Amino acid sequence: MSSTNPQRLHVACIMDGNGRWASRRGLPRTEGHTAGEAALADIVRASADRPVGWLTAFGFSTENWVRPRTEVRHILSLHRRLFARTEEMNSRNARTRWIGRPFNEKGSRTPVYVQKAIAKAISDTQDNTGLTVTIAFDYGSRAELVRAAQRAMAAGPVSAASITQNLYDPTLPHVDVLVRTSGEARISNFLLWQITGARVFFTERTWPDFDKNQLDEALALASGHYA
Ligand code: IPE
Ligand code: IPE
Ligand code: MG
Repeated sequence: MSSTNPQRLHVACIMDGNGRWASRRGLPRTEGHTAGEAALADIVRASADRPVGWLTAFGFSTENWVRPRTEVRHILSLHRRLFARTEEMNSRNARTRWIGRPFNEKGSRTPVYVQKAIAKAISDTQDNTGLTVTIAFDYGSRAELVRAAQRAMAAGPVSAASITQNLYDPTLPHVDVLVRTSGEARISNFLLWQITGARVFFTERTWPDFDKNQLDEALALASGHYA
């Protein structure tokens, strides 16, 4: 990969279309989620070889809890698999982070085993200095912004900077390229504050079919930043 300008771009992905990927193949939706987790692992590897400093992936939204129990359970167990990829992350000098509704907050439904998987992934990879992979799990941007506004107001006059300082991860930089797969041209309550000024890459492909060539197309949108 040639880059004349070693930028550290922030790519954010709304990983949509796992269900459609599966149903087009006559498979249960759960198979689509399994394939989607594998696709994310591929995109993490590809990102580590490209001028990507930050990869943020929407794994599970605050709205997704209403899905059938078996599907939710399957998605949760895939997050355990995803967060357990620490050896792979360490071999690529990549660190894992998480954004979402805090576990001690009223309404949090994250099971303890997922909480533990998240905490372990973060601590086992925290010293890595390359790519930062942030998983949005039980994440909703409006809830994040309401909380940030409340905390900012409690501390003094509200400004854009004080809202940013009170986001789930204040160190998450602005998004350069937002990807949404499966032909839906919507944002679905993802990173509303952080995508100001982002380029947006919509693709008809479902998430399990999103590959490194498509990642390159998305990165090319940040042209001027990426060669
Ligand atoms: C995205 O795929 C994964 C999650 C939302 C967890 P979907 O499950 O939304 O797949 P479609 O949109 O039904 O095809
Ligand atoms: C967005 O996909 C959330 C994730 C990718 C986790 P959804 O399938 O939940 O979004 P909508 O319902 O199409 O807006
Ligand atoms: Mg969907």
